[in-house]
Amino acid sequence: MRKLIVAVAMAAAVLASGSAMAQSPIIIKFSHVVANDTPKGKGALKFKELAEKYTNGKVKIEVYPNSTLYKDKEEIEALQLGSVQMLAPSTAKFAPLGVKEFEALDLPWLFKDDAQYDAAMKGPVGKWLFKKLEAKGITGLAYWDNGFHMVSANRPLIHPADFQGLKVRISGSKIADRYFRDMGAIPQIMAFSEVYQALQTGVVDSCENTPSNYLTQKFHEVQKDITVSYHAHLQYAVIVNSKFWNGLPADIRTQLDKAMADATDYTNSIAAQENKDALEEIKKSGKTTLHYLTDAQKAEWQKAMQPTYKWAKGRVGQEVLDLLAKELHVQM
Ligand code: LMR
Repeated sequence: MRKLIVAVAMAAAVLASGSAMAQSPIIIKFSHVVANDTPKGKGALKFKELAEKYTNGKVKIEVYPNSTLYKDKEEIEALQLGSVQMLAPSTAKFAPLGVKEFEALDLPWLFKDDAQYDAAMKGPVGKWLFKKLEAKGITGLAYWDNGFHMVSANRPLIHPADFQGLKVRISGSKIADRYFRDMGAIPQIMAFSEVYQALQTGVVDSCENTPSNYLTQKFHEVQKDITVSYHAHLQYAVIVNSKFWNGLPADIRTQLDKAMADATDYTNSIAAQENKDALEEIKKSGKTTLHYLTDAQKAEWQKAMQPTYKWAKGRVGQEVLDLLAKELHVQM
C-alpha cells in the first residue's frame, strides 16, 4: 500500500512538473532565506514586479522569503528536483552543488568595496563560475550584492586572541571555516533560520553577517558586542533549474532576462545604503556595542587570516584564484 502511495505521489509530481509550462500563468516559485526588508528580499520583490509587468501577467512569481518554504540545504535540493524554480543563495552555500570554486569569493579582505565586487562579477570570473554550474543542471542568471560581514559575540572581538575557543556559526563555506580557525575559533555550519535561537541559547557564541541581516534577524539583540570588521563579502547568485528555464517559451525568457537585469541593477544599487541604514538602526537600538578596528588591529586580523589564502588553492583550485587576482589587480 505504502509503495502504491509513493508511486502515485511520484507520478503526480512528474505530471505537475510537466504541466508547469502549459499552466497559465506560468508560476515561478522564488525561495530565499532572508527578510523582505534586505537587499535580497527587495531584489526578489522587484524581480516579481518587473517580471509580471514585462510578461503582461503571463508569468506569476511567488516569492517565499525568510525560509518559509525551504531552509538552506533543502532549497538547493528542491531546485535540483524542480520543486522550486528560482533561488538566490549566498555563494558560500554552493559546495553541496559540487562547485567549491564559488567559495573563492569568501576570501577575507578580497574585495575593496561593493563597486569592485560588482565589476568583478560582471567580468570573466563571474562568467567562468556560472559556466561551472551548467554541468549540474543549474543556470546562473545574476550576481546580487549584500555588502560585508561584521562579526559578533558576547565579548569584544578586537584582537585575534579574542576568538580563542569561540563557537562561531558559519553559513557553509570552507574558506570561512578556515579563516575562523586561523583566528583560533571553532566554526560550525548552521542554517540561517536557526541562528537567532542558537545564539540566544548559547549553542553557538558568535556569528558573522551583514548589518541588514543582523537587524532583520535581530542577531544584535542576542550579541552584546559587534565588530564592524567588514572582513569578508556576502554575495548571492540567482539560479534556476536549467531544464525549467530552457523549457520556457523564448519570448517569455527574453522578458524574464530583462526583468532580472533590471532587478539586479536595482538590488546592487541599494545594497550599500541598505546596510548603512541597518547599521545606523542597530546603533540606535542601544542593544549592542559596536566596535571599529584601528588600522593596526585590522592588520593583526589580516596577518592571522593570511594562511587561508595559501590553503584556498587546495580547496578552490588555482584557476579561479588567478582569474580573481587578474580582475582585482592583486597577487594570490
Ligand atoms: C547566511 O546564511 O548567513 C546568509 O547566507 C543568509 C543570506 O542569504 O543572506
